Amino acid sequence: MRKAATALATGALVVSLGVLGGCAGGATSAASSVPDGAPNPMPASHAGRFENLGANGCYGCHGASESANPMLATATVVPEDHFAQGKYASMAFDSVREQCNTCHPQG
Ligand code: HEC
Ligand code: HEC
Repeated sequence: MRKAATALATGALVVSLGVLGGCAGGATSAASSVPDGAPNPMPASHAGRFENLGANGCYGCHGASESANPMLATATVVPEDHFAQGKYASMAFDSVREQCNTCHPQG
């Protein structure tokens, strides 16, 4: 949870740097607390979720709604740079992030 809070706090900075890039982008690691820029893999509990549900399925727990972010309280907060227009208020993941598993492999 500490990492999630840090990611949330640094989200605005990451957006201001315009980081949309690759899984191991140097700028991303400089702007966040992730040591080498590699984001966390999906937990073992997630096996098959991306294949079965796609990004919309992720959104059901990790997404933002009018009343909650994340929608499932125990889910990890997704950084704001993952959202359309870089804003939670868009209430949609950015289309360039839809292939979640390319950067967050199944752990
Ligand atoms: C049913 C609710 C649910 C769905 C659907 C879901 N997640 Fe999660 N996710 C969680 C919860 C709860 C956690 C917290 C840690 C755990 O379960 O081990 C988590 C943790 C994670 C983490 C680890 C974060 C960290 O800091 O270690 C990643 C990455 C992640 N989810 C990505 C995804 C992706 C990508 C999808 C879509 C394929 C997805 N999740 C779908 C509930 C969900
Ligand atoms: C282009 C690579 C990329 C894609 C695609 C991507 N992410 Fe991430 N994600 C990252 C990086 C890098 C971080 C580390 C923190 C940051 O960006 O501020 C991260 C952080 C996260 C976190 C916070 C926990 C952590 O690992 O630090 C969650 C949860 C998460 N992503 C979920 C998702 C979901 C859900 C999707 C699909 C809708 C997705 N990601 C797509 C690169 C990506």
